[in-house]
Amino acid sequence: NITEDDHLVLLTTCTSDMTNGRNILVGRLTDQIYPEKEKAKNVGTGIDELKNAVGKVPVIVWFILIVLVLILIARQIEKKRNKKKGKKEEEKKAEEDKTLVMATNAEFPPYEYYEGEEVVGIDVDIAKAVAEELGMELKIEDMAFDSVIPAVSSGKADIALAGLTVTDERKENLNFTDTYAKATQVIIVKEDSAIAGPDDLEGKKIGVQLGTTGDLYASDIKDAEVEQYNKGFEAVQATMQGKIDAVIIDSEPAKEFVAEAEGLKILDEAFTEEEYAIGIAKDNDELLEKVNKALKSLKESGKLDEIVAEYIKADAE
Ligand code: ARG
Repeated sequence: NITEDDHLVLLTTCTSDMTNGRNILVGRLTDQIYPEKEKAKNVGTGIDELKNAVGKVPVIVWFILIVLVLILIARQIEKKRNKKKGKKEEEKKAEEDKTLVMATNAEFPPYEYYEGEEVVGIDVDIAKAVAEELGMELKIEDMAFDSVIPAVSSGKADIALAGLTVTDERKENLNFTDTYAKATQVIIVKEDSAIAGPDDLEGKKIGVQLGTTGDLYASDIKDAEVEQYNKGFEAVQATMQGKIDAVIIDSEPAKEFVAEAEGLKILDEAFTEEEYAIGIAKDNDELLEKVNKALKSLKESGKLDEIVAEYIKADAE
């Protein structure tokens, strides 16, 4: 693309000033031949300048800048994470607020016992009805009877429903709601037993469920040898097998157990009357109030009687 003009310039400048002429020629040639490349080179020079400027920034400044950016990023991540965590905790708490945990010992028909895999009974239905009144979901925790009160007083469970008799001693560890049932401690013996009432239990081998009021009564009997079982029915079986002389246990389960066993009877003469109530942690006055309110409405609506009637036949009373 070199024009004649260029040759002319070349020629003329060659004669006068070689160096100058060559420079002019090269300048023109470059302009003409590499205009695009020339532009690119200019941009490139910009980058080079930037590179130069960047190169002049001391390493320490770079270091501080990078650290600052990293801190900013870390903070942002932390914030996001906390937000997520907070949400999860809130959800968990909301879930907990919605569930009413019932501590019980499901060895106590008709109040709580297993039907297949499921815990059912009067206490379970009462707890379900109470939970419903409270707008909560019931969760049942089956445990040893002597763990029921500690579970509630320690806050692991919200309510104790276990045919739990109100006693002054227990009131030291938890609060009781209004009562919802009456019961007596009765004596189960073999049909042919000479034992006819509480007075005949002196010096006898007596079976009880560990930690129950029956256990308390038995330990007050003079010279009695008290056998504590984990389950009331185990004591009943031991009586059947002649291993022990009698069982002291609540009246309703006594009826169920004797009906299931053979050759046993319940003595007419019983210990004093007791009352069942729901146990609630000492510091949880709010729940106590709510549950009492719910119990009251269950009593007034006839729902409580309905529940009891479902499990205890009128003729068996
Ligand atoms: N009423 C008795 C008590 O409070 C016995 C209760 C046993 N309850 C049970 N679910 N095993 O000591």
